[in-house]
Amino acid sequence: MSVKGLSGWHATNAKQFGQDRWRSLYAALWSPKSHAALVSPFERHADELVRRRGMQPIEGVPFCWVEHGQSNGAEGAEAAGSRQDEQGVIYWLDAASAASLFFLPLPAGPSTVLDMCAAPGGKSLVLASRIFASAAPAMAGADAEGTPDAHDHGHGHRTATTGRLVCNEHSRPRLDRLAATLRAFLPAELLDHGQCVTFTNDDAANPRQVALLAPFDGVLLDAPCTSDRHLLHSGPSGLAKWASGTPKGHADRQLRLATAALGMLKPGGHLLYSTCALSEVENDQVIERLLSRAARDPSCVQCEAVTPTQMMDMYKAHISPHTRPPDGDAQGGDCMSSTKSVGVRVCWEATRVGVVCLPDRSMGCGPLYVALVKRAK
Ligand SMILES: C[S@@+](CC[C@H](N)C(=O)[O-])C[C@H]1O[C@@H](n2cnc3c(N)ncnc32)[C@H](O)[C@@H]1O
Repeated sequence: MSVKGLSGWHATNAKQFGQDRWRSLYAALWSPKSHAALVSPFERHADELVRRRGMQPIEGVPFCWVEHGQSNGAEGAEAAGSRQDEQGVIYWLDAASAASLFFLPLPAGPSTVLDMCAAPGGKSLVLASRIFASAAPAMAGADAEGTPDAHDHGHGHRTATTGRLVCNEHSRPRLDRLAATLRAFLPAELLDHGQCVTFTNDDAANPRQVALLAPFDGVLLDAPCTSDRHLLHSGPSGLAKWASGTPKGHADRQLRLATAALGMLKPGGHLLYSTCALSEVENDQVIERLLSRAARDPSCVQCEAVTPTQMMDMYKAHISPHTRPPDGDAQGGDCMSSTKSVGVRVCWEATRVGVVCLPDRSMGCGPLYVALVKRAK
């Protein structure tokens, strides 16, 4: 039987999370969204900028900062219709979104990554920072793993000029805005001459241009989804249109996109799947359907699950020791790991085949579901 509208949405979530948890989660979905400042590691005055603005690094989230102990500093910027400031070198985003990219294993040398559904571009910026920026001493709080073949281009930037990031987006206007965002944040040599960062305009479920650039070491599928928080804040008409078929419809499309993603990976490469949906239908169940179909049908691309515990181990291995979050968290109850910088908390809870960051335990960050699938060798 189909359940519909606001009451159906409440009943479905109460069933999935339990009444008590749903009550606290629902209240947290109304609270102001928490934002981190992603500061371009390619900007030569970045250290001066973070000092001038009184920013502190976010523990466990490379390249991200909190301003004056406040993690909602972007509200004004967002209200004004801009998510970038300081000529584009600061991009405001959910700290969980930024953190999620550090689950993705990449080879030690140059890596090739596809961001399948990339606009508006926050995760592309973090991926580009991770792939191309070497550890810069001035950004001591924000360094990730070093890149072995980094070069100083004489502009004070340090970038690795090998490796590739392909940003794909189906909507042409959104792709144009994404390209403008990346142009403001990244050095020109990565975009124009180096062709290290390129853009494609495919329907990712039926890739053509993108398929010519495959195979990739890693594919990010930050999938179009129900986006419950956005739906809640879009006013009564948003949730009035919700029905139990809504997550199911998204899930079928997500499965098609995930199947296409697997086909574009190198053997041993990883698919990083994420959504900002609450429903397990769009989260664990999509990954479980992908895995079980591969297990049943030898003609499908073969893949294996990465467990939540393995995911957390990988996450910690991908960030430098001084930005590493502590193991476990006494305050967090079920949280596997969290960051507890002033004003920011990203708490990852294990699900059956992934991890989730929810705003009631993460000071307004999330919702964000993340799972990792490895293409068999
Ligand atoms: C959740 S958003 C991605 C957010 C982005 N990763 C970020 O961090 O800014 C999903 C995006 O997928 C795009 N999209 C939807 N269907 C698509 C398809 N079949 N192929 C490629 N992009 C698609 C949407 O236009 C939207 O921009």
